[in-house]
Amino acid sequence: MTETPDTDRSLPRVIFPLPGNEALAEHLARAGGWPLGTLETRRFPDGEAYVRLLDNVAGKAVDLVCTLARADEGFLRLVFAADAARALGARKVTLVAPYLAYMRQDRRFLPGEAVTSQSFARLVSSSFDRLVTVDPHLHRYPALSPLYGIPADALQAAPALADWIAAEVTAPFLIGPDEESEQWVSAIADRVGAPYAVLRKIRHGDRNVDVELPDLTGWRGRQPVLVDDIASSGRTLMEAARKIVLQGFAPPVVVVVHGVFAEDSFECLSPLCSRIVSTDSVPHASNAIALAPLLARGLAVHISAEGELIRHRRPPEPVDEVDLAGMDSFPASDPPSWTSGGH
Ligand code: R5P
Repeated sequence: MTETPDTDRSLPRVIFPLPGNEALAEHLARAGGWPLGTLETRRFPDGEAYVRLLDNVAGKAVDLVCTLARADEGFLRLVFAADAARALGARKVTLVAPYLAYMRQDRRFLPGEAVTSQSFARLVSSSFDRLVTVDPHLHRYPALSPLYGIPADALQAAPALADWIAAEVTAPFLIGPDEESEQWVSAIADRVGAPYAVLRKIRHGDRNVDVELPDLTGWRGRQPVLVDDIASSGRTLMEAARKIVLQGFAPPVVVVVHGVFAEDSFECLSPLCSRIVSTDSVPHASNAIALAPLLARGLAVHISAEGELIRHRRPPEPVDEVDLAGMDSFPASDPPSWTSGGH
């Protein structure tokens, strides 16, 4: 990994939170010693968004802090804030999005599908000068640069996860939920000084996942710790937790970077685990690992992980093959989708 100073580092900067991101923005401002700006927003009676920046941004670097979990709800408002900052004279507008949305539809699984990772990247790239995020779900893309047309820094939460585990869990035994997570989990285990194993996951649909376990009984007596980048539907972790207990282990501790926890997944997962923790990339009751120090450092330098895969989930495919990809995977949605017309 290489680090180069941000060329606009000498600019005064001001941090603005979008709604729901107040705590992280405040921690970030404190960690970097930067002022916190005030952004006013509301909905007009017809639901359209009103946005106003209440601080002078002329000549400054403006950082808009907005996690992108449930991005559809607030994305326009975020774009309006970026446009306003630029129109008011900001020299550089950065999106600090600790969770980056739309990374999982990274190919056309069925004919006619939108490859939303590409569309979303184009929209973000046309509104911001820089993106700073944490552990984006890089699967078929080796890095953000083939997708994003702006400098996009992907910071890594793995050391923070490892330090939390080392401090909080006695005799941990780390478990990654799928074979592709091996490189990532082994790096965390190495920092913790603990053994690890990976499971085998077969996904049949959005909410339909099978997990196969090797024989882990040699590690019985240690505390299993399931680590993953995202808990979304939570099905991966639920299946893994159920099966770990069947091999005679205590209920696992779950540690994830992004606690998206869709629908009732947290309520369903909780009884299967002894503890569930996440970073504060998505505000949630499970947040226990603060990202502000990592983000503050990431704002001050450009971090390039080119050539070093953040999570080597599969050998990367060339981008044009992603575009032309065949339909060899699971359907994108298992509940009936809305369709227009006679389908
Ligand atoms: C897999 O590729 C990811 O690392 C996660 O395991 C997955 O995205 C979790 O999804 P869910 O919570 O919907 O099972």
